[in-house]
Amino acid sequence: MRITDTSDLWWKTAVIYCLDVETFMDWNDDGTGDFEGLAHRMDYLHELGITCLWLMPFYPTPDLDDGYDVSDFYGIDGRLGNHGDFVEMIRMAKDRGIRVIVDLVVNHTSDQHPWFLEARSSRDNPYRDYYVWRDKPARGKADIVFPDQESSVWELDKKTNQFYLHHFYKFQPDLNVTNPKVRDEVAKIMGFWLQLGVSGFRVDAVPFLIDETGVLKPEDALADPLDFLKSIRAFLGRRSGDSVMLGEANLSRPEQVKYFGGKDGDGLTMQFDFITMQNLYLSLAREDPRPLEKALKSRPIVAVESQWANFVRNHDELTLDKLTDEEREEVFAAFGPEKHMQVYGRGIIRRLPTMLQGDPRRIRMVYSLLFSLPGTPVLFYGEEIGMGERLEAGDRKSVRTPMQWTNGVNGGFSNAPESTLPSPVVEDGYSPEHVNASEQRHDPESLLHFMRVLIERYRASAEMGWGQYTAVKQGARSVLVHTLVGAEGRMVALHNFSGTPAAVTFTLEDVDRDDQLVDLLVDGRVIELDDSGTATIAMDGYGYRWLRVIRPTGKRLG
Ligand code: NOJ
Repeated sequence: MRITDTSDLWWKTAVIYCLDVETFMDWNDDGTGDFEGLAHRMDYLHELGITCLWLMPFYPTPDLDDGYDVSDFYGIDGRLGNHGDFVEMIRMAKDRGIRVIVDLVVNHTSDQHPWFLEARSSRDNPYRDYYVWRDKPARGKADIVFPDQESSVWELDKKTNQFYLHHFYKFQPDLNVTNPKVRDEVAKIMGFWLQLGVSGFRVDAVPFLIDETGVLKPEDALADPLDFLKSIRAFLGRRSGDSVMLGEANLSRPEQVKYFGGKDGDGLTMQFDFITMQNLYLSLAREDPRPLEKALKSRPIVAVESQWANFVRNHDELTLDKLTDEEREEVFAAFGPEKHMQVYGRGIIRRLPTMLQGDPRRIRMVYSLLFSLPGTPVLFYGEEIGMGERLEAGDRKSVRTPMQWTNGVNGGFSNAPESTLPSPVVEDGYSPEHVNASEQRHDPESLLHFMRVLIERYRASAEMGWGQYTAVKQGARSVLVHTLVGAEGRMVALHNFSGTPAAVTFTLEDVDRDDQLVDLLVDGRVIELDDSGTATIAMDGYGYRWLRVIRPTGKRLG
């Protein structure tokens, strides 16, 4: 590997930060966040050290699913600004070395999208085939994504007396990607935003988009769903060679391999690793790293260009669908024991700090772990300051509260009356009075400062994004010791999942005499290895360490 490869394949060492413009910063005080507000916060994001912004949908929308119901793929929601503001924001980001990727939501449109209004106006409308219509579909409970809201994935359109497909809400009719015109539209949409300067897309609902859910009979679905995925990836490559497709695809391991495009890596560039995320919570609940270890071990080897995206929380529920019923119950009992903390029978609607009862040691341990997992870390806005949630908002809305900037009015998000905000700010122990960016910026002991250090060290340790992961055998059951070995060096990470201190003795293979371990995170201390490459380290309860292997003749900075 050449050092410049880390720049060419920038996503392999990126730090991705997801935000919704609507809830991030309101610059004109009309109650809704806007692009101008985001542009004004670019220095904050730069200071934090992130390298890639992922913008949740900002398109015109009836806003019944937080913008994931798009009524114009080329537009900007007028409450957030206009194309000029969008371009200014991109300019600000690029100037600070931050790339921007945007949500590509083309599994469905809003039912208010002009295509759907046309399509439902008559059976012979030219747009009819943009959607999926059936006379008598099987109307089972299977494949419903929001089981508390919908009873079928088919909805009758009374006027034309046919059912249309909607995997998500009934106001989100699925596009018919077997129609070549629709596939052309998808490419055109991508081309448009690329031309405005984005570096790729977070692709929404990939298995639904390529019709792999089994709802359609094989003869009605795409002949080869992966071909479609690969064709849009190829298009992306032609228009913008270093742009990425980060797929939202909560899949089994063999399916993930397919979606990456196997050893050719010509499918999705990146995929969120839902399996690792869910097993991380099981490990936290059990204070035992083994479920996480097992999940990481089960990761298939993927092409060099492909990359895993790691996360602990996102804008949806914390889904636990890949765990067994018993395992899910364990995680519910530990982190979301009350019914109003759960949703859809599969997930928790809290943020990490409240689940961990605000224990700063444990919260830091989890983020240290997140950044040390092989792959690219993805943060959801507010995680860097330890924001909590508003459970009373209900379901996924609970974590979509305004960013908390100061301890002032509406947490410094907006001076507009609270009733006009997308959501009130968090109350109780996690209110802006207790949790806000402004105070944490000046407090070297704050979570925000800790996150900055993590990000800085992660970015200077390409072996985390690129390297080979191996779990190191040792005797302390509550501690995960793993190494990441890359072309430029080696790291050892230690994480104690328990609140009880532990002494950890481990042996590294292939070390030379006089190699040393330098603590990158806690205190810069140098730890000697004995002749057999063995070290003993005392770990605090919920302790974490990142150790860099330094050779006396090496040129790497400790
Ligand atoms: C996945 C998104 O993450 C979620 O928020 C949305 O509701 C669905 N896709 C439908 O677009």
